[in-house]
Amino acid sequence: MKRLLITLLAAFALLPALAQDDVESRVEELIFRMTLDDKIGQLHQIDGRTDLGKVCDMIRKGQISSIMNIVDAAVIDSLQRIALEESPAGIPILFSRDIVHGFKTILPIPLGQAASFDDALIRSAARNTALEATEIGIKWAFAPMMDIARDPRWGRIAEGFGEDPYLASRLAVSVVEGYQGEDLSDELSMAACAKHFVAYGAAEGGRDYNTTYVPLRSLYDTYFPPFKACVDAGVASFMSSFNDNDGVPATGNKWLLSEVLREDWGFQGMVVSDWGSVGGLIPHGVAGDKKEAAKICLEAGCDMDMMSYSYLNHLKELIAEGSVSMQTLDEAVRRVLRLKVRLGLLEKPYTRKASESVIYSEAVLETACRLAEESSVLLKNDGVLPIAEEVKTVLVCGPMADAAYDQLGTWALDGDKTHTITPIAAIRRELPSDVKLIYANPLSYPRAQSSDDFKALKKAARKADVIIAFVGEEQMMSGEAHSLSNLHLQGQQSEMLEALASCGKPLVTVIMAGRPLVIGSELELSNAVLYMWHPGTMGGQAAYNLLWGLSNPSGKLPVTFPRNEGQIPIYYNHKHTSHIAKGTEGNLDSVPREKPQSVMGHTSSYLDVAPTPLLPFGFGLSYTTFELSNLRVDNPVISDSEAVVFYVDVKNTGDREGCEVVQAYVGRKTASTTRPMKELKAYERVSLKAGESKTLRLEIPAESLAFCRKDMSWGTEPGNYVLTVGTSSEGGLRSYFKLEK
Ligand code: BGC
Repeated sequence: MKRLLITLLAAFALLPALAQDDVESRVEELIFRMTLDDKIGQLHQIDGRTDLGKVCDMIRKGQISSIMNIVDAAVIDSLQRIALEESPAGIPILFSRDIVHGFKTILPIPLGQAASFDDALIRSAARNTALEATEIGIKWAFAPMMDIARDPRWGRIAEGFGEDPYLASRLAVSVVEGYQGEDLSDELSMAACAKHFVAYGAAEGGRDYNTTYVPLRSLYDTYFPPFKACVDAGVASFMSSFNDNDGVPATGNKWLLSEVLREDWGFQGMVVSDWGSVGGLIPHGVAGDKKEAAKICLEAGCDMDMMSYSYLNHLKELIAEGSVSMQTLDEAVRRVLRLKVRLGLLEKPYTRKASESVIYSEAVLETACRLAEESSVLLKNDGVLPIAEEVKTVLVCGPMADAAYDQLGTWALDGDKTHTITPIAAIRRELPSDVKLIYANPLSYPRAQSSDDFKALKKAARKADVIIAFVGEEQMMSGEAHSLSNLHLQGQQSEMLEALASCGKPLVTVIMAGRPLVIGSELELSNAVLYMWHPGTMGGQAAYNLLWGLSNPSGKLPVTFPRNEGQIPIYYNHKHTSHIAKGTEGNLDSVPREKPQSVMGHTSSYLDVAPTPLLPFGFGLSYTTFELSNLRVDNPVISDSEAVVFYVDVKNTGDREGCEVVQAYVGRKTASTTRPMKELKAYERVSLKAGESKTLRLEIPAESLAFCRKDMSWGTEPGNYVLTVGTSSEGGLRSYFKLEK
């Protein structure tokens, strides 16, 4: 049979790009010849970081469909050879990896990338990532992660695109397009995976893996959209999440994986569980053992079992007993095979031979650097930035100034820190020779507790014209299973900034972190603050370029910054409530002991902190200034099948070239359900020379105004909309339009 298969594969190799019918007939050819054991093996995924002898044995027995975490092309090819030549069905293995923000060249964390609002740049950076990864044989990436996250305590907020469904949808689609390219069977493409389906980012208290309780309406309105957008963009696979939502673990949720994803959205691809999440039904308490878990999850629509061995060890018995049907099993196998066929693995199972390596190539690094620049958000600037030519002595300090590993951020599995450009490395290399550099590192890492060297630091600071302090979070402070309850700068970093600020010299604070931190006092005491997130391999070069004005900051916050942890969750697109805050609340000192309501009123707010965030979604400064004017709606009355079209003039009113992200929000006062006060529905980056103006044409299709109506149906409702166009989620020009049925 194997020989026949090899002949068949050779014949297929002559075929050009695959038509849907070809894919189906190949899948049927394969499935027709497979035994029950072969089929069950196709649903099993293992971690390759284990005894390779054992892995080889399992491959020979046809027990492995996909292997993750092997990143050596020679090993990949040798395992592939065993699969093709020695396994009973001779079906190639699909090699996979968590390639979340870059493979070797690490890009900014996705939350940072989101700050760029630059779909095209994210797409091309993702394409570079696919080129690097396929060079060593990885054909399936577990990304993009598109969980809406409104709780910065959650460590995995770093991995997604922030709090807004519209922004997250557009950027997740960019990553899918970059990874998968125009043709999945292209040797340079790899399959993307939309994860984690669903609501994983709503973990209670920001504690990773925790229960979520997101009601149906919010699933549709807030958590589903990025996933649906990726289905529409042709994402090849989905990953079910660890959490249970409203009592049902996602991996065993038939409504979610079969009805919503497949029947309603028409997803044709494959669903993989998260790590061990099939077996996870046991600790969740909804399955007594792995056999029961296997039945629940396979029948729910989870095709591949990542690491729990539930399918491998129990499906045969379940089929024999008749408690799982052969048809259910075959459907799952078909979906796995379809992906392998579509990826071209049957024709080209081995690692492509790159004539020239793209890994860490100049073009790839340059894109990573641009993305790190565009991801950086200027939060404050009294004019100290960009650093002026007159500055002749600079003090650079702080634990993130030379943290080659930490600046890569979470999920930088393959990033080699010896390739990282740290800020101090870039500054040393680039600084003009007539500028004196003093470098001091009184805190060896962000959590360091000793303030012994602060005295010497202050002495150095007094000699400097400008101080640049790099502070933030280590790599391990965010990411999976790395949640925090305290979002202030760790260790003695705030104390270090206070010591520096007391020297009377301009203080520039650069923050590299995996999440929004609570930085009210640091913002106050600094003359300028640049938030770089974890910027990746080229972060130091990007920092230099921005600080010295070789490029101009343009990033915008993709997530709201809270004043303190007690304000969480706080996000811009919150709903209308009956007792909306006035904005002046939270000043406890002004509240009398008796009759406090005379001052407070009855509003939804805290006694001890303002109801507003520290920094709003969409906010970010530039070295230049922009002015928006003349907002006009072209067609103020639209029908369900139309788009509202509007124009706005944007002028660069400063003295240097820069880029503004023009953001359009819509809101409505009345609908059949309570609705967000405003929601981002369009944005565009516009680059303008000093003094230059442009007229932007933006549009919002009526269908993007659809929501989960009172009767739970999805669609629009006629009504009046307020359109706000601005440079952040606060303020802006206003206009109106009407949707008529
Ligand atoms: C994570 C996933 C990841 C998987 C494989 C899990 O623990 O939740 O995001 O893709 O491991 O490494």
